Amino acid sequence: MPPIYLTTPIYYVNDKPHIGHAYTSLATDVLARWKRLAGQEVFFLTGTDEHGQKVEKAAQDAGMDPQAFTDKVSQSFRDLAVTMGFSNDDFIRTTEARHKAACTALWEELVKRGEIYLGAYEGWYAVRDEAFYGPDELVERDGVKYAPSGAPVAWVKEPSYFFRLSKWQDWLLNHYETHPDFIAPASRRNEVMSFVKSGLQDLSISRTSFTWGVKVPGDPAHVMYVWLDALTNYITAAGYPDVNAERWKFWPADVHFVGKDIVRFHAIYWPAFLEAAGIAVPRRVYAHGWWTNEGQKISKSLGNVIDPLALVEEYGLDPVRYFLLREVPFGQDGDFSRGALVRRLNGELADALGNLANRTLSLIQRNCGGVLPPAAERTEADAALFASVDTLVAAVEAQLDQQAFHLALETVMAAVREANGYITVQAPWALKKTDLNRMNAVLRHLHTAMRAYATVLQPFMPGTMALMLDQLGVPADQRDFAALSTPLAEGTALPPPAPLFRKIEEAKA
Ligand code: MSP
Repeated sequence: MPPIYLTTPIYYVNDKPHIGHAYTSLATDVLARWKRLAGQEVFFLTGTDEHGQKVEKAAQDAGMDPQAFTDKVSQSFRDLAVTMGFSNDDFIRTTEARHKAACTALWEELVKRGEIYLGAYEGWYAVRDEAFYGPDELVERDGVKYAPSGAPVAWVKEPSYFFRLSKWQDWLLNHYETHPDFIAPASRRNEVMSFVKSGLQDLSISRTSFTWGVKVPGDPAHVMYVWLDALTNYITAAGYPDVNAERWKFWPADVHFVGKDIVRFHAIYWPAFLEAAGIAVPRRVYAHGWWTNEGQKISKSLGNVIDPLALVEEYGLDPVRYFLLREVPFGQDGDFSRGALVRRLNGELADALGNLANRTLSLIQRNCGGVLPPAAERTEADAALFASVDTLVAAVEAQLDQQAFHLALETVMAAVREANGYITVQAPWALKKTDLNRMNAVLRHLHTAMRAYATVLQPFMPGTMALMLDQLGVPADQRDFAALSTPLAEGTALPPPAPLFRKIEEAKA
């Protein structure tokens, strides 16, 4: 199986992490964990974007030297990764020497190929987005001009190097046509294509009005445009410019996970830079939607920023991980509400999944001496249960390969509902007196089904599913997808079950 490379955006260190950052990384983490369980070699990268005017200004506001400031804020993103259980294989910072070397090498390659020229930039710039905007994209309110993102823009005029982006317009359009999976979901693909069709101008890729960035080789009065610097992180971590590096085998990236606000940079500038430098372009850019908080846009000025650490503290890590990917179709905007989180936690995790495990395992304790009953024949009455169990890995994988995390979880939950129906109809508790063999068979079948549910849910809820697999008596080295085809040995001793999820009173939500 080919190795797989998954990335998150690198996060600006102008402020502490919030739910949006946790969300992009969570999705990436789930896919990375899934592919490892499927036996693939995975490289999962995340990190921090530390240069540019926005970060420089945040450091000034904090009264700190930019390096000391970024050291501090970058650490809070590493802490977030630990708290959220992210399994990233590397954490890149754009202030690292390896990254500056990669940016320098890429720049020199572009110069060598005649893709960069010196000129002067005059136009609108939004520091908040670190982006240039055309006059037709702006709206004016109270004498201030704003970008479509809502960020205020200012007029900039300074000497600048340019990248010949306009030259790549037709190549880009052809690439989108011939690689229909390159940008997803479809709404974003259409948006990018119409933007490119409307005409691309050469891109200003250096600045001279501040110094916090990677110096342009041979012209240190210029620092590189922060997006050129930032996007390069994806090849830095794979070893660029050393194409003999161990990690270069991972390039090109399989999926760049991004939010919808930064799709333009990833789906237009990035493939153009790479193609112009003779480097393979990534396979896919997936842009997810944005969260609102109880119906309101999330913003610092409204004071409604959601702190992922506080959420985890309150509801537990795995319910939060589950909720974020379950509640809203990935790719669409969604609303965060505590009520909705509590309903998912109580209804799906505690009641449907947790109770199923608890009921079945308690019966095995009481009626089978805590020992797994032997593998049993499947009867017609068991067919519906196994119809979903036997196809579960393939069905969930097909959805995850489309980054349809919500559908993947719906598929697992539909299977869990099937099992709840099965236990009610089969009523193994009543079989004890009437048909001991059938009771054993039903409990064994339920055990097999739950092992499958817990195995496929591991990427979403690693901690709780490890506990569930412990309770199911599944040895630690038999928790990948391949192991599902080998039944657990008859007579495996199962520990006494304990509740997997804690219900929350709705009133407290
Ligand atoms: N530094 C750039 C990315 C460079 S990648 C080469 C950047 N950083 S960011 O910190 O501002 O944003 C990172 C991610 O957080 C983006 O994918 C963005 O969409 C996401 N989110 C920020 N607020 C969000 C919500 N309210 N909801 C969901 N995601 C949001 O952009």
